[in-house]
Amino acid sequence: MNRTELQTMAEAERSRQQAFRCRFLCCAGTPCLSAGGGAVQQALKQAVAARNFEASVEVVGAGCMGPCSRGPLVRVIAENGEETLYERMTPEKAARLVEAHAAPGSTTLPEEWRIAEDSPFFSKQTKIVLSGSGRVDPERLESYVGEGGYSALAHALREMTPEEVCEEVVRSGLRGRGGAGYPTGVKWNLMRKAPGERKFVVANGDEGDPGAYMDRTLMESDPHRVLEGMALAAYAVGAEQGYVYVRGEYPLAAQRMERAIRAAERRGLLGHRIFESRFNFRIDIRIGAGAFVCGEETALMASIMGRRGQPVPRPPYPAQRGLWGAPTLINNVETFGNIPPIIQRGGTWYAGYGTEKSRGTKVFALAGKVSWTGLIEVPLGITLREIVFDIGGGIPGGRAFKAAQTGGPSGGCIPAAHLDTPMDYENLQALGSIMGSGGLIIMDDTSCMPDVAKFFMEFCMDESCGKCTPCRSGTVQMVRLLDRITGGRAVPEDLERLEDLCMLLKETSLCGLGQTAPNPVLSTLRHFREEYEAHIRERRCPAGVCDLGN
Ligand SMILES: Cc1cc2nc3c(=O)[nH]c(=O)nc-3n(C[C@H](O)[C@H](O)[C@H](O)COP(=O)(O)O)c2cc1C
Ligand code: SF4
Ligand code: SF4
Ligand code: FES
Repeated sequence: MNRTELQTMAEAERSRQQAFRCRFLCCAGTPCLSAGGGAVQQALKQAVAARNFEASVEVVGAGCMGPCSRGPLVRVIAENGEETLYERMTPEKAARLVEAHAAPGSTTLPEEWRIAEDSPFFSKQTKIVLSGSGRVDPERLESYVGEGGYSALAHALREMTPEEVCEEVVRSGLRGRGGAGYPTGVKWNLMRKAPGERKFVVANGDEGDPGAYMDRTLMESDPHRVLEGMALAAYAVGAEQGYVYVRGEYPLAAQRMERAIRAAERRGLLGHRIFESRFNFRIDIRIGAGAFVCGEETALMASIMGRRGQPVPRPPYPAQRGLWGAPTLINNVETFGNIPPIIQRGGTWYAGYGTEKSRGTKVFALAGKVSWTGLIEVPLGITLREIVFDIGGGIPGGRAFKAAQTGGPSGGCIPAAHLDTPMDYENLQALGSIMGSGGLIIMDDTSCMPDVAKFFMEFCMDESCGKCTPCRSGTVQMVRLLDRITGGRAVPEDLERLEDLCMLLKETSLCGLGQTAPNPVLSTLRHFREEYEAHIRERRCPAGVCDLGN
């Protein structure tokens, strides 16, 4: 395919869509599918067929639309472009939806079926990475192309040198979305300059944090965006082979990525001489086997090479010595998802969002005690208060906000006193948490903080690969101490022991898992120490969660 053919495909797809009197976009993300989205889509198709509307009404699967807990969702796009979003659809409701939209005037629908898209849940978000999610059909390459897909790659291959692509990413200020927030452009420049005949690009879609599903959603909803981002990276750093490492628990994401790769290969958007240039790039999928530590880059590379997924010390960093000894660029799935718009609209445009040191937007999986849960994308620098009370609609049941857990097992809990802190990499770290990959769990006054810390520590204990002693034994000892505290069997000295172990793990563990495992304990000790004291000295759980044997 060349540039003109890409444009022709895009125009053909847009006119095809415009020819429909009405289009039903059914969310086909995992949360909506598990709520019965597949049957809803089927019922819509049947209702359309029953009225012989197939030529003028389209029913398609699309990706995640955001408020996942209200699924299955259906978006209806009328001929004049007007959109209506419906929640909690059922096959029975689907037939009435077809009547109301495809045969206007025949029936009216209850107002409560609709989700108002001018509500703060939507209006306070800025969608860059997720701009195609819920709009493109992840099973059709043409659908992505119709939204401008692959035009950034076509542009870069023809008009930009690899150095210029790297510079654009530097200018954007994008930082890695996998957790650590390392500047993406800097990493790409290091990779570009790394000597080596063979180089690799890897998309990290391991996503092991409990409750997080940003990367799964992007792979399921807009797989070509990830592929295009990877291809731009490969061109920029001089790689010809890429891997998408998908968590074993994500079969739908793996399937959609696989199909997208095959479709892109068939059209010459991946493979040999892409866009009739001299650039070659192949991508293969590798499936993880459920170990959290395999998200760590050195363990991930071992896993790709067919070895046991255990970390090794860095340096050498993957950009110096990665897969089979060759320089390897590893970025998170969401990081890659940001690249096509950055190349298309420019790094300066992207840097216009966010704060000085944390540019752009971030996707969060908003969960826990808020009225609206789901997948959100917000400009960095937004306050936690805006996320919880505007986007999330506040705490249900009139209860009080207690804390927000960010960064999963490597992160921490932010208390109510810091609700107005702008969310960026530095501020979260200063509060003893981390931005992490985007897990965001909101807790109300029924959560017990030592109990929350124990949950994450048990997770780290289970997921420790056992290679180094501080993490292998330290996590077990910390769980024992936390168990004593929450079980009402602790003595005051146990708090000191717990803090000593935190420091030991932080300073002597081999990889990030052990080094950050103490964070949930340290942050809850910092902001909610009185709860630990109450458990130990008074044998009392202020939140009423723990059984202290009284
Ligand atoms: C225990 C552990 C688990 C990790 N899991 C993930 C993961 O699931 N996804 C991810 O992108 N990065 C994960 N990381 C971070 C990666 O090692 C790496 O920094 C990241 O993929 C780089 O991409 P980025 O610069 O785009 O963020 C993990 C790190 C550690 C220590
Ligand atoms: S006994 Fe020691 S050396 Fe042997 S497997 Fe266990 S930790 Fe490793
Ligand atoms: S810190 Fe934990 S997960 Fe990392 S290498 Fe050591 S034992 Fe394995
Ligand atoms: S999966 Fe349907 S709205 Fe997120």
